[in-house]
Amino acid sequence: MKPRILVARPIFPQVLEKLARHFEVRANQEDATWTPQGWVQALADCQGALTTGADPIRADVLAACPDLRICANMAVGFNNFDVPAMTAAKVLATNTPDVLTETTADFGFALMMATARRMTESEHYLRAGLWSQWRYDLFAGAEVHGSTLGILGMGRIGQAIARRGALGFGMKVLYHNRSPLPAQTEADLGARWVSKNELFEQADHVVLVLPYSPAVHHIVGAAELALMKPTATLVNIARGGIVDEDALMAALRGGRISAAGLDVFEGEPAFKPGWLALKNVVLTPHIASATMATRLKMADLAADNLIAFFEQGRAITPLNEVAA
Ligand code: DGY
Repeated sequence: MKPRILVARPIFPQVLEKLARHFEVRANQEDATWTPQGWVQALADCQGALTTGADPIRADVLAACPDLRICANMAVGFNNFDVPAMTAAKVLATNTPDVLTETTADFGFALMMATARRMTESEHYLRAGLWSQWRYDLFAGAEVHGSTLGILGMGRIGQAIARRGALGFGMKVLYHNRSPLPAQTEADLGARWVSKNELFEQADHVVLVLPYSPAVHHIVGAAELALMKPTATLVNIARGGIVDEDALMAALRGGRISAAGLDVFEGEPAFKPGWLALKNVVLTPHIASATMATRLKMADLAADNLIAFFEQGRAITPLNEVAA
């Protein structure tokens, strides 16, 4: 008998076809929104799942799904997983690192540029028919080339953003991470470790790329925003919970910082209606890794993790250790 797997969200038909050669597939191709009960019901008799960052795998779900042996996240982030609880329940967790690094860095850089150069605000103005003449300061924004880029979280994506800033735009790159990178890596990237406070004080553009965990919940709040230059911008492509959104909203309303670019929100897809009233914020619906080529690589890697686990006894990109 083939193992039964749940594919939690619509994915590429060719990936579904590949999965169907190995598994009995229960696929949510109709794009149904699960209630917590519906989610558990759909998963309860499955041995595996292809999940996205929006699908929670925590102790209550694990308790209700005794047959579950692996959850393959189609995301590099895995804060939807309670990995210690999964390990205790002997459920393997996997994610999709590497395949999305450059695409996500492209987007982080694009969002930083759109924020600094007021691209959506000025487009809305044009579309509203408000453009009547040239003005020297019409939507004048902040300089990007030659400015100081501050990266909070210097993993693979942070490093790819650093390369874009240093090599492509002549930016001075500062970063903060729990520990500094090896000196040679810093030299290759043209990046320098600073304390978190120094990063917020000195950067013209701060980009957040650190993985979310409860330890970094609201790590960017009123105190950090108060350190920033009034001309500075803040971009979040990591997870919504990293930023205290009320503090950021207040900082943007009061001109404490000049603008923000947000691809992620606490509680997404719901978001605070207050964002819509603010002109100096660029808002996107969690799409940093969204090119068709990259999303296909992510889906393929998640599928290959399931296949490798069930057929060879070990996954390709595991996050924990569990006997197959
Ligand atoms: C990730 O991979 O973690 C992204 O946020 C989901 O697209």
